[in-house]
Amino acid sequence: KALHCQPMEFRSFYQNYSAHINTALKQILDERANQIPLPLADALRYSTLNGGKRLRPVLVYAAGYAVVNDQISLYQPNLDYCACACELLHCYSLVHDDLPAMDNDDWRRGQLACHKQFSEADAILTGDALQALAFELLSQKMISIKPEQQLDMIRLTANAAGCQGMAGGQAIDMSNNANTLEALILMHRLKTGALFKAAIGLGAQAVGCEDDKLLKGLDHFADHMGLAYQIQDDIIDFGNPQDSDSKNNKCTFVSFLGLEKAKLYLQTIYQQAIDSLNILSLQHKILQELLDHFIKQ
Ligand code: IPE
Ligand code: IPE
Ligand code: MG
Ligand code: MG
Ligand code: MG
Repeated sequence: KALHCQPMEFRSFYQNYSAHINTALKQILDERANQIPLPLADALRYSTLNGGKRLRPVLVYAAGYAVVNDQISLYQPNLDYCACACELLHCYSLVHDDLPAMDNDDWRRGQLACHKQFSEADAILTGDALQALAFELLSQKMISIKPEQQLDMIRLTANAAGCQGMAGGQAIDMSNNANTLEALILMHRLKTGALFKAAIGLGAQAVGCEDDKLLKGLDHFADHMGLAYQIQDDIIDFGNPQDSDSKNNKCTFVSFLGLEKAKLYLQTIYQQAIDSLNILSLQHKILQELLDHFIKQ
């Protein structure tokens, strides 16, 4: 079924692709279900098919659409692998993030956290398995992509997930050392921005983009969008006594800058994200609309 029909408004773009990713994730887990020992099979489904906003996979499709416009459906299988991989990495990060040794949160996406519904060991293994599954998908046969480019895509994702990306950012977060503005920014760029950058970079490369200027511009946008998203998360979480940042005495943008300055800072980063898109003269505004939808002014 063609997901894409012109003119593509943001609302239908987001609805179509977030529904599509839910189906694709379910299919991937269903196909493998009888090869996965219980309770791991249940824990994988529980932690993935549970109503996330699917922002990162939608970013994959939006980046593909930004690069090839109406030709996007030609690259659907590639985009599906990349989009599912990004969401699986994200789900893995959330399962581990909630563990007692990390943020020690009992709830995730409106249901018990994986380690509460299952066990801590199950949650650790669920994260491990989700991460491996993400890389399995990225190594599947893709249409019209040179092997070297696909290797670049896999390396880009490994960097985004690893020490120079999400895991590194989580390590800074856990160390409680992020107590200057520079350190907070670095932490957020790594723990959240890195996966946004991977999503956008994968989406562009999955449709064959080799234009360095365009890839750099999109990367710059993703970096700022990720940072903005995490500043906003701090603003939303602020003042909630149940929030794990307050519970764990974490330094956040709001505790560091105060609410008003944190909001102004969010506005600055938002504007930089918009500026990095504007110089690319894209043919439509899907990425800007995605930013506007997720970063509330
Ligand atoms: C939660 O990510 C963790 C942060 C980076 C703030 P999302 O806000 O994208 O969570 P889901 O995927 O919709 O649950
Ligand atoms: C979630 O970060 C994990 C990553 C971004 C890798 P947070 O700990 O800030 O997110 P919530 O508040 O639990 O969703
Ligand atoms: Mg955390
Ligand atoms: Mg957390
Ligand atoms: Mg948070």
